[in-house]
Amino acid sequence: MKCVATCAKGLEPLLAQELKALGAHPDNSDDVGAVTFDGTWLLVWKCNIWLRTANRVLVELGKWKGSRKERLYGGFRNLLKHWPDELFHPRRTFSIQASSAASEMTNTQQIALTCKDALVDHQRSMWGERANVDRDDADLLLRVRIYRNQATLLLDTTGESLDRRGYRKATTIAPMRETLAAACVLAADWNGQGPVVDLMCGSGTLLAEAGRIALGLRPSAKDRHYAFERLPSFVPEAYQELLPQKVERKVRLYAGDIRPQALDATQQNLRAARVDNFLQLQESDAFTAMPPKGPGLLLLNPPHGERLDEEEGMRGDLGELFRNYYGGWKISVLSGGVSPAKGWGMRPARNMPVFNGNLSARILVFEPPATE
Ligand SMILES: C[S@@+](CC[C@H](N)C(=O)[O-])C[C@H]1O[C@@H](n2cnc3c(N)ncnc32)[C@H](O)[C@@H]1O
Repeated sequence: MKCVATCAKGLEPLLAQELKALGAHPDNSDDVGAVTFDGTWLLVWKCNIWLRTANRVLVELGKWKGSRKERLYGGFRNLLKHWPDELFHPRRTFSIQASSAASEMTNTQQIALTCKDALVDHQRSMWGERANVDRDDADLLLRVRIYRNQATLLLDTTGESLDRRGYRKATTIAPMRETLAAACVLAADWNGQGPVVDLMCGSGTLLAEAGRIALGLRPSAKDRHYAFERLPSFVPEAYQELLPQKVERKVRLYAGDIRPQALDATQQNLRAARVDNFLQLQESDAFTAMPPKGPGLLLLNPPHGERLDEEEGMRGDLGELFRNYYGGWKISVLSGGVSPAKGWGMRPARNMPVFNGNLSARILVFEPPATE
């Protein structure tokens, strides 16, 4: 089956790396916000459980020419014949989401309606009855995308987006997306040794992700369900085997921030992420706090205000901080702003353009040499 894992723009290389680690062979395409691969149902379940930088995993059910209503309808009906009857059985409720770009058909409501008609007509002809549409909690989550008049039917196997980890109990200003925080940790290619420090922890997202990665815990901190569990291909026993076993690992997590509210939020979130047993909190200024004995992993998401002069001042100090106190460490920084690395006096080992919400940002990885 052709599968598609979606992600925030810029995270594709890290998502491809994660897919390889799960045994997939990602295609070498330059898709934006997605990585495609060939997969079995088992791999699809595994990807949903274990991918940390993806938002969802879709299975491509088919492609056809969808330039006009009649073609869209006919192609859809034709395609349904190629999948096991059971998948489109009328007992299964469904929803269809449509999108269109650079195509003749632009009205997404009409696209969804045409595809719905094709599906229920197919069901009536096969079973003499049709399935109900359920917009909020359908068994079958279908997506139709039309791009340059080419229609693609995708089956969403995820349901609730994978970035909803379930540990965000408290927020502070400018929290980062969980998938982006995981990306910062993975980009550093850290070997899991030594402490993990976030000197400007805010609500603790970077430490929650680093902690769960270091302990071998799956990304979701809650007992969630996935859309694939409601498909006929689902085998509960095989799925259970993919879930993590209890592992006895340890990690040391250090959170600092100048604002006490941030430390409270980090405490609450890391408790919900089930990594707070390993956490030490300190109200401190990043530029004067003494690092724990390393080397280890330093994570940072400095404030990215509108005022460049303020930012530049802070960033000059950060370069000095890295060189003087974090030699031999892996340092991964999510940095916003126009010219993020300017003024740091260091060349990043990795420099990845990403998006933090709508803001363009960069993941910068530094590896300052160890000092004597
Ligand atoms: C962009 S927020 C971090 C958001 C965090 N990554 C999250 O997901 O919630 C930046 C944080 O840096 C803190 N901060 C700013 N200057 C600081 C300094 N000199 N020392 C320590 N923390 C500082 C702020 O209080 C704020 O919580």
